[in-house]
Amino acid sequence: MGTPLPISILISGRGSNMRALIESAQGFKVVSVLSNKDAAGLQYAAERSIPTQIHPRSNFASRLEQQRALFSAARNSGAEFIALAGFMQIIEPEIIHEWFGRLINIHPALLPKFPGLDTHARALQSGESSHGCTVHYVDSGVDTGPLIAQARCSVNLDDSEETLASRVLTLEHQLYPWVLDQIAAGQISLTGNQTTLTNSARRSAADRQFIIPENTSCV
Ligand code: GRF
Repeated sequence: MGTPLPISILISGRGSNMRALIESAQGFKVVSVLSNKDAAGLQYAAERSIPTQIHPRSNFASRLEQQRALFSAARNSGAEFIALAGFMQIIEPEIIHEWFGRLINIHPALLPKFPGLDTHARALQSGESSHGCTVHYVDSGVDTGPLIAQARCSVNLDDSEETLASRVLTLEHQLYPWVLDQIAAGQISLTGNQTTLTNSARRSAADRQFIIPENTSCV
């Protein structure tokens, strides 16, 4: 294995995906964890001697300036790639322009179904028989960037929002490290607006019962 891909994680909350990434990092290395607020997950990173920084909105004249500070901090920590993990802001176009293709997010629904908030309640309300999570490249829309991979679970008749959320979260913690390892190994990439996965990545996904969206290309 070559040098691990240095990544930065941006969080706004409890950071369970951040934790899964830190714990199972193989082909990548978490070099910083950054937040727009005093997020609970920062403590876990700090305890593992991973540099953390908080850049609250109130310190800046605009959200763009705030995000410039956050993404500069990522770059200065040596990150070549950024993973959003419960980071609750839409990313400004100027930042997307710089990081497009090197910035991914995990979303708790099978995109393009249920972008935005309250995905589990909405999946239950609309009577879905399956639900899950998606990792995608980030663009300046709300959960609209090129899809990379998904993990699916069934929706049970007796599911509450909480039971469904917990089943999906378990999948998130498996899917996100897998995607980052594949990216670090050069098995997943973005060409223009198109996600490309090698046959090796496709086989590995199939072994884990992950779903590769149809509008991806193959090398
Ligand atoms: C996750 O459900 C993730 O998919 C969404 O925000 C939540 C963050 O949870 N983007 P955590 O902070 O990683 O526990």
